[in-house]
Amino acid sequence: MDNAEDLCKYDTTKIFLLSQCDKTTVIRLWGLKQKVLTMRLYHPLQICSFAIWNQYSQVMSIHKTVRRVTTHVLNEMKLKGEKIAMLTAYDYSIARILDEAEIDVILVGDSASNVMAGYDTTLPITLDNMIYHAASVMRAVRRALVVVDLPFGTYQGNSKEALVSAIRIMKETGAHAVKLEGGHQIAESIERILSAGIPVMGHLGLTPQSIHKFGTYVVRAREEEEARKLLEDARLLEKTGCFAIVLEKIPARLAEEVTTTLKIPVIGIGAGGKTDGQVLVLHDMLGITQEFSPRFLRRYHNLYAEIKGAVQSYISDVRTQEFPNEKEQY
Ligand code: KIV
Repeated sequence: MDNAEDLCKYDTTKIFLLSQCDKTTVIRLWGLKQKVLTMRLYHPLQICSFAIWNQYSQVMSIHKTVRRVTTHVLNEMKLKGEKIAMLTAYDYSIARILDEAEIDVILVGDSASNVMAGYDTTLPITLDNMIYHAASVMRAVRRALVVVDLPFGTYQGNSKEALVSAIRIMKETGAHAVKLEGGHQIAESIERILSAGIPVMGHLGLTPQSIHKFGTYVVRAREEEEARKLLEDARLLEKTGCFAIVLEKIPARLAEEVTTTLKIPVIGIGAGGKTDGQVLVLHDMLGITQEFSPRFLRRYHNLYAEIKGAVQSYISDVRTQEFPNEKEQY
């Protein structure tokens, strides 16, 4: 909602007057928040209209006003109750679209191991592979915060190696933060990475790098004991200095408890609607991948079918010599 016309679509109950809309417009609000706000409107209209505060507040949302999303911006979003939107990207072209759509956080996830490289798990992807993907993403991004997964085997059990891995990511890609899977077992690695000034995002619940320990991709922490440990780990990650955590595939009630307990933002995937934000793997939500269909996944498109259809049309046009036509040649 960027201009005065959009603003006018919102109406009733707690009302305010938009007076004299030249370039800079003073809007007096009364009702829920009793405040006076000044905002620039880029629409030279002269209007009077009404809006309710909670809808109007979207206009002034942090996400709309920031030029660059930082870890501090995410904290402010949590404080103001603004939800954080995060998606994965692994290459320049897609990252550019996500950034221009104003996604808050781009995760260069080790899910690249599955969706880009075709492996069954996230274990095989290497640090060099992750650096290649992250550097491609960084060439596209102007606004979003970019977080990069440290891949399996580059941080567990050796905090010095963890620091070397994180430094390579930061130096060779220009990314803004790293993400590590696990709680107390990797606290020393997290601490050491943080000591170099590198922001760290945690990841608890279903942690795909430990799939061979879990044995399956079922919901984690349904039992009280595991839920208690997860909450303890979440507290520890916050205390250690993580700027945010991802909770994957855990009961919504537990995710809500973690979210209200922690001051840092909590981003969920398959963790219900009460977390501070959501993350999905882009290839899943666009319907490029077909075989992966967990309950939490909402598909916003069926790109598999669309791309296949477009490719079949092209093949047919080439075979029938419909392509190229007169205008498509020199
Ligand atoms: O690698 C990844 O895409 C992730 C998300 C599932 C959170 O870690």
